[in-house]
Amino acid sequence: MKRFLILAFAVVLAFSFSSCAKEEKLDIVTVTDIHFAGREFHDYEGYFEEVNDTNGSGKQMKYLDDILDAFITEMLERKPEYIIITGDSTFAGAKESHVALTEKLRPLVESGITVLILPGNHDIELPAYIYPDGGYQETVTLSPDEYREMYADFGYSGGISYHEDSLSYVYDTGKGVRIFMLDTNVAYGMLYGSLSNEKIKWLEKELEACKEAGDIPLVAGHHTVLEHNKRFNFGYRLNNSEEVEKMLADAGCTLYLCGHMHTQHIVEGENLTDIVGGSFAVYPHRYAEIEFSKSGWTYEAKATDVEAYANEIKSENPDLLGYSQYGYDFFYNNAYSQAKESLSYIVTDSELLEKYADFTAKVNVAYFGGTFSDVDLSFAEQFLKDAEGSGWCSYVELILADPKDHLACSRTVSE
Ligand SMILES: [Fe+2]
Repeated sequence: MKRFLILAFAVVLAFSFSSCAKEEKLDIVTVTDIHFAGREFHDYEGYFEEVNDTNGSGKQMKYLDDILDAFITEMLERKPEYIIITGDSTFAGAKESHVALTEKLRPLVESGITVLILPGNHDIELPAYIYPDGGYQETVTLSPDEYREMYADFGYSGGISYHEDSLSYVYDTGKGVRIFMLDTNVAYGMLYGSLSNEKIKWLEKELEACKEAGDIPLVAGHHTVLEHNKRFNFGYRLNNSEEVEKMLADAGCTLYLCGHMHTQHIVEGENLTDIVGGSFAVYPHRYAEIEFSKSGWTYEAKATDVEAYANEIKSENPDLLGYSQYGYDFFYNNAYSQAKESLSYIVTDSELLEKYADFTAKVNVAYFGGTFSDVDLSFAEQFLKDAEGSGWCSYVELILADPKDHLACSRTVSE
């Protein structure tokens, strides 16, 4: 009997040690600001091209369907447990874009991946248009209830708590981590975000329940909680961010995922790291891999491999087969032509104008991609002097003032 008890104790002890040593890790992918339009309703050769290319955002709308297919194909092969999508999933909230997007995402869910989505400022209750046959046509958008219904298989069912007055919810992973998907919009269609008193009360209650269960929260929203850059404060950071930061930190939240700024950008507060993912619609079409557990996490931003996908499907499109160059050139040229036009009123020497437009375009591409260390800054001082007073000058000045570790693609936090 004594021998049996010793053996049983040893088995229990061994089991406890092995479960401590093998703490469960969540395999998560996050992607943001996809701004999917749907090729079927958006004829790129025409008014849509004009609308997109002149708005300065650098979104690659012509090939976004293919780029999303490349991402989805990769995910179906890689099979993460979760894909978290932090808002602005559509170009500008047209119902047709939402329908087309859910059709694209559905195979992920069918393959067993849990896809969790939340709305950005470009998804709901907007004046919506589609752009067929080179022109444009007014269409309908989604109401919050329609959004909840349309994305029922993408987070709006199966959660453990849904906030009645917004599209916020909590998903329990069953691995000691609860994923909080916050609807940070004040009013849909408005740029800025905030958590209303009602959302704060609901969040407080849910964070408390998370703590009582011995779980830790991983939190996602569209707007940022921390300040990333003075240029991206009003309209980009939650209006009541200090209150929210304190609540999240008190609840043991160490990672907040968001989008909205379109740049790949990481900042650290006292206890909380706030990561903005680069917009999926913009080169190099970022998504990120996260390994998350109760004792820490790693985050690594990736670029979608469009060329590999083009080869896999035996595409004959040279733009897709050589996408690394094509995608870069599109984004670079978009910024170059805008900078050249704008700086031409200040810089009269044509050779210098071209050099400065080239410099600002390179800074812009690197800033959005989180690859700033690649930029040659030998021109910076002279540029800031010669271009003083222009919008591009103050833009570059703010980027240069950013601590360089913010313009990064990876981070690890452990206890
Ligand atoms: Fe966006």
